[in-house]
Amino acid sequence: MKYIRMPIEIESPEQLGYDKIRNNLSESSYSDALLKDMKVDLRNLGELALCYGDHAGHPGLRELIAGQSRFLDRGDILLTIGAAGALFIIASSLLDPGDEMIVVRPNYATNIATPLAIGANVKYIDLRFEEGFRLDMEALKRSVNARTKYISVTHPHNPTGACMNDAEMKTLAGIAEQYEIWLLVDETYRDMVFGEKLPVACEYSDRVISVSSLSKTYGLPGIRMGWIACRNAELMETFLAAKEQIHICGSLLDEELAYRWQVRKEGCFERIQKDIMEKFGILKTWMNVQDDLEWIEPGGGCVCFPRMRRPAGIYIDKFYETLLHRYGTYTGPGHWFDSPRQYMRIGYGWPTRDQLIEGLDAITQSIRVSRHTR
Ligand SMILES: Cc1ncc(COP(=O)(O)O)c(C=O)c1O
Repeated sequence: MKYIRMPIEIESPEQLGYDKIRNNLSESSYSDALLKDMKVDLRNLGELALCYGDHAGHPGLRELIAGQSRFLDRGDILLTIGAAGALFIIASSLLDPGDEMIVVRPNYATNIATPLAIGANVKYIDLRFEEGFRLDMEALKRSVNARTKYISVTHPHNPTGACMNDAEMKTLAGIAEQYEIWLLVDETYRDMVFGEKLPVACEYSDRVISVSSLSKTYGLPGIRMGWIACRNAELMETFLAAKEQIHICGSLLDEELAYRWQVRKEGCFERIQKDIMEKFGILKTWMNVQDDLEWIEPGGGCVCFPRMRRPAGIYIDKFYETLLHRYGTYTGPGHWFDSPRQYMRIGYGWPTRDQLIEGLDAITQSIRVSRHTR
């Protein structure tokens, strides 16, 4: 393994210092909850035995997660340390140095960085602004060869918020079956679609591996609770072996909190969804009057990936500097996603309404003062 730190982590708001940012538009999740906001019953928590837990994870929690689909049972679920832990287990289980995998770009950086660290040959399928950030299925098919181990997609997509439909998901699963390879669907934003919610991806085929977590939709990244869902028992056994070698089992405290929360979470998402849609309305109204920016309107998630219309006319470094140092506003610059810095990821689900309004205005002002002048 050859690990290299990713810009998105080096420059993340938590590493920069939350106290240095007034309007944080760089996050990819809903607002972080306080422990007391989870409204879990903390009584008896002191009685929790701090032993090693079930290696696959809290059985009750896996049962509840499996319950999101008619086709899954708890044996199809492996709890992991966040979705990030799941992605590591999958990449390290499926890839040897020199193997090939196909990944959508831009992407959540780990989906690319871990295969690279393993020494795999990474083939990119680029999502293009001009094509509405839609996945080119023909290009993807052409990229598969005898050394391909898996295809990796994110749905809804980070950083663009682009969504696939049922037919596209079926096509993808069909490609995996036809070529006898795996399809990884990182669906940490699955609940956050604005339109029709697709089934859990692993329902499409037992060649599909779903990854999700509580971090994004529910603003709970601090309890590090993710999971893999897959109906292929043999593959799940390999993933369990990987988990056991990495950390044996998860944190019993995290699992217990997640379980108690999952039991009572009913109604919780409706409140979050309403808030996200209100914030999306603010974003859309703002975007509609931006002459310097253009976007592909997202279909889900809580991020979008607009770009500067005339980047040659703007000092882009000055823009980001002004945005942070004069206006206290932080977004995810394009280079976090292997993209030109004229693109920026705006996370609109995390800030408060007022921070969002102020932050968006700061983007407008910062572009204005960063224009080339004669
Ligand atoms: C698409 C995607 N997958 C996975 C993760 C990792 O999330 P976590 O490990 O907190 O569940 C992120 C975090 O930003 C993400 O955006």
